[in-house]
Amino acid sequence: MRIDIITIFPGMFEQVLNESIIKRAQSKGKVKIKVHDLRDHTLDKHRKVDDRPFGGGSGMVMSVEPILRAVEALRTARTRVILMSPQGTRLNQPIVKRLSAYAHLILICGHYEGVDERVREHIADEEVSIGDYILTGGELAAMVLLDCIVRLIPGVLGDKNSLNFESFEGNLLEYPQYTRPANFRGMKVPDVLLSGDHAKIESWRKKQALKRTRQRRPDLLKSKKT
Ligand code: ADE
Repeated sequence: MRIDIITIFPGMFEQVLNESIIKRAQSKGKVKIKVHDLRDHTLDKHRKVDDRPFGGGSGMVMSVEPILRAVEALRTARTRVILMSPQGTRLNQPIVKRLSAYAHLILICGHYEGVDERVREHIADEEVSIGDYILTGGELAAMVLLDCIVRLIPGVLGDKNSLNFESFEGNLLEYPQYTRPANFRGMKVPDVLLSGDHAKIESWRKKQALKRTRQRRPDLLKSKKT
């Protein structure tokens, strides 16, 4: 898989790409991630990426031309172009899963008051929001999406089972987890987990996951898996 990110703040990605699982995924050759400075795709000497909105109003709008030039330099026949924006479809695990199946993604990080509507209409294949709140730009949103996608690439996480049982798989939150000590200052681990009876443990975990989901996220039980 290859992921290209188009941004006016390439430096923001350095730490995220060079630590932990995302770093290892790249060095193992599971994913190729490249960050591109949008200003490198401008033609004027000021490397301008924005302009005033037609019709007036406050703030600046990201221009279509540098974005199109950047995308054209990177796009292949198998590319999915994603615009990060608070107006997009709200991200969830089924969307992450669907996007992780593409061979090539381009993530465009929006800024200022917004991006020229023609980016939305003619360049992006889809628009993704990471939640109903406004960030200062699309960079943090792109990092969130990147992180969620990379961990789903086969061979990136060691244990396949840990993916199957984690929160949101099957639209359930995860069951409670404990590790040693079994009794810490009187706070005890449930007996069933110490019983060694695997069938009983599995049934307890399923029940706990369901109970937890009902209490905290009843909406997940109503929503269909996509
Ligand atoms: N840019 C600003 N806010 C955002 C959000 N919530 N999701 C994606 N991109 C954004």
